[in-house]
Amino acid sequence: MNILLIDDDLNLGKVIGYQLQQQGYHVDTVLNGREGLKKFKRNAYDVVISDIKMPDLDGIEVLQEVRRLDKQVIFLLITAHGSVESAVEACKIGADDYLTKPFGKEQLLFALQKALRLRKLQNENQTLRQELTDKFKFKNMIAESGPMQEILRITHRVAHSDASVLILGESGTGKELIARAIHFNSPRKDKPFVVINCPSIPANLLESELFGHVKGAFTGAIKDRMGKFEQANGGTIFLDEIGDLHEDLQAKLLRVLQEQEFERIGSDQPIKVDVRVIAATHQDLHQLMREKKFREDLYYRLSVVPIQIPPLRERKEDIPFLVDFFLKKYAGKNHFSITPEALQALLRYHWPGNVRELENLIERLVTLAESERISLRDIPEFITTSPDLKSGFDIYLPAEGMALDEIEKTVILKALKMANGNQSEAARLLRIPRHVLLYRMKKLKVDHADA
Ligand SMILES: Nc1ncnc2c1ncn2[C@@H]1O[C@H](COP(=O)(O)OP(=O)(O)OP(=O)(O)O)[C@@H](O)[C@H]1O
Ligand SMILES: [Mg+2]
Repeated sequence: MNILLIDDDLNLGKVIGYQLQQQGYHVDTVLNGREGLKKFKRNAYDVVISDIKMPDLDGIEVLQEVRRLDKQVIFLLITAHGSVESAVEACKIGADDYLTKPFGKEQLLFALQKALRLRKLQNENQTLRQELTDKFKFKNMIAESGPMQEILRITHRVAHSDASVLILGESGTGKELIARAIHFNSPRKDKPFVVINCPSIPANLLESELFGHVKGAFTGAIKDRMGKFEQANGGTIFLDEIGDLHEDLQAKLLRVLQEQEFERIGSDQPIKVDVRVIAATHQDLHQLMREKKFREDLYYRLSVVPIQIPPLRERKEDIPFLVDFFLKKYAGKNHFSITPEALQALLRYHWPGNVRELENLIERLVTLAESERISLRDIPEFITTSPDLKSGFDIYLPAEGMALDEIEKTVILKALKMANGNQSEAARLLRIPRHVLLYRMKKLKVDHADA
């Protein structure tokens, strides 16, 4: 480890330098601030130790310049009694710690080690946070299809506000992913993102889970407990499966949303919080409202910005990109790919479990694969044999057989239909020149009116 020592007191410099060298540190000693900065710019140091009072450039100015160049390097100030009032003052101007003259070897080493330990922790924290943030940047969310692009745009815009967001979509469509993306792209990103899964917590415990309780509030409340709303203060709370929230709690939640205030169970002390609420459900809330199972006023509070994620079968353009994304995610160092036929099978399937189902499948395929190229043989039968209800592109071959001409006729009709009767477009869909299409149509007696 390299240390730069700046002190105009030649003797003190020598003593400190010697003590540090004895500990195995490499020390460069200079006698004034200007020399110190020159050396700092030319070499890589882990630690700078500088006296405050020096003739030309004082320690504070050195500190400011060093901090401008490098936020990471550890900086210890040496103060004569009274030049810096406290550690707090020293830290405010960017030092990690300070030593008051006279100090002994033990104090010096203790301050140094403490600063090193703290910096290590800070760095680890930063890395963790960075990883989390990276993970939920939009770049890790596949959104190629038109509807997903639109959702990304809304997500981006809403991230900067505090508006309540209601995310709707079938199971596995990515509701939680969107919620996290909103939080981690919002000004609240360094504050907690707290998830609460409403149906997984028994109704009688959910209230305490959300709002906390005080000791003795009910049997079993043996000490005060903070609820999720308090934990999320400054950040975001994600209320998953809000459609399952009990009616009593719907009323309480509404109040928190309106007033940003609540009480722990058993207390009448109001607690103020600043929490952004994102809710999600796979249920049809309008239906629940008609059945009087979900409060309308709560619905309007929650859905200031509604985001409806379409099921995967309605945005199949995303499938090839998702497949690619998950192949990379689960392949580790290997390079997996998929044959066009296998991909076709995945495109035809209707994905009732949406992206989650696709992700699970790819993970399984990668784990079990014998080669790094996934082929039709690897795709489970329930997928390859499932009829595609939506696009009608599945070709049904009856047990007694069917003329190839008939099949060709069906496909041509389908292409014409998709192209709204435009022959050039239909030919493009079938990857043939237009004159070939016209020839085939004549030969097979395809009637335009049928399309
Ligand atoms: N657009 C996407 N790009 C990449 N991964 C996605 C996308 N959408 C969903 N996923 C992944 O699919 C899985 C399911 O997503 P998520 O948990 O967000 O869905 P959900 O709607 O909350 O599902 P559930 O209703 O089952 O709780 C997660 O692993 C998520 O990372
Ligand atoms: Mg979910």
